[in-house]
Amino acid sequence: MNPNTVGIGLPHPLASPALSCYSVISSMTPRESSHPIRSFFKQLPMYAAYKQLGHYPDYWWWKLRGEPRRIPHLLKQRTVREYAQAFGLTTLVETGTYYGEMVAAVAPRFQRIYSIELDPRLAGMARKRFRNYSHVEIVEGDSQAAVPNLLPRLKEKCLWWLDAGYCGWVGRVGNRNRLSTELIAILADRITDHVILMDDADGVNGEGGSPTLEELIASIHANYPGRQVEVARNIIRITPQKLKV
Ligand SMILES: C[S@@+](CC[C@H](N)C(=O)[O-])C[C@H]1O[C@@H](n2cnc3c(N)ncnc32)[C@H](O)[C@@H]1O
Repeated sequence: MNPNTVGIGLPHPLASPALSCYSVISSMTPRESSHPIRSFFKQLPMYAAYKQLGHYPDYWWWKLRGEPRRIPHLLKQRTVREYAQAFGLTTLVETGTYYGEMVAAVAPRFQRIYSIELDPRLAGMARKRFRNYSHVEIVEGDSQAAVPNLLPRLKEKCLWWLDAGYCGWVGRVGNRNRLSTELIAILADRITDHVILMDDADGVNGEGGSPTLEELIASIHANYPGRQVEVARNIIRITPQKLKV
């Protein structure tokens, strides 16, 4: 068995207290820098492009370190493309835009992209960055409300990239129910074949009110039979059918 793969489930109610999610930050930009020069640099439009340049060195540095659990952004981009291809998905919904790196990387692959960002400054920067991309919509707001609001607008099965710092990325405790609210909304949607990728599976670790991965997987199987759940390369993958990617 692939050591990066965890999976396959046991019965457990999705809305149980165990799934009330953990360290979730709703009110600030992740890893905000206190250094004034760095903060200034981050305001500049070129910062996003600079970050993009770092993806390749980041990938090779990860390889040199023996491929640790936390994967570089290039592999996340590849995963998003692979799932879109494998399941024939042309709409992407992302929670957590940040500097728009995922949107920029996969924009040519999708016909429609919605990206939800809580931080008004980041949302504004992303709107500016993607103003010439008519198929990209940056939604400013809390994903916990934005996801249920967006669902009725969607006309087809989508690929969901859930990456809004659910598991204590900023290091403070926020709204503990956000991830479960979003997952339930997507899984219970009238469109039953959405595909969900959730980054940072290692945050679902049974600590600080978090369920364990096994509990999360069991909850999904119990409440939404027919869904496959796999965890590989630190990404939780919820798909409507068993399909090897
Ligand atoms: C890990 S970064 C996203 C990285 C991005 N998805 C990518 O692949 O390049 C997390 C982002 O989630 C945003 N965020 C945190 N809480 C949020 C919430 N409740 N709703 C929407 N976005 C949120 C943060 O401001 C931050 O920009």
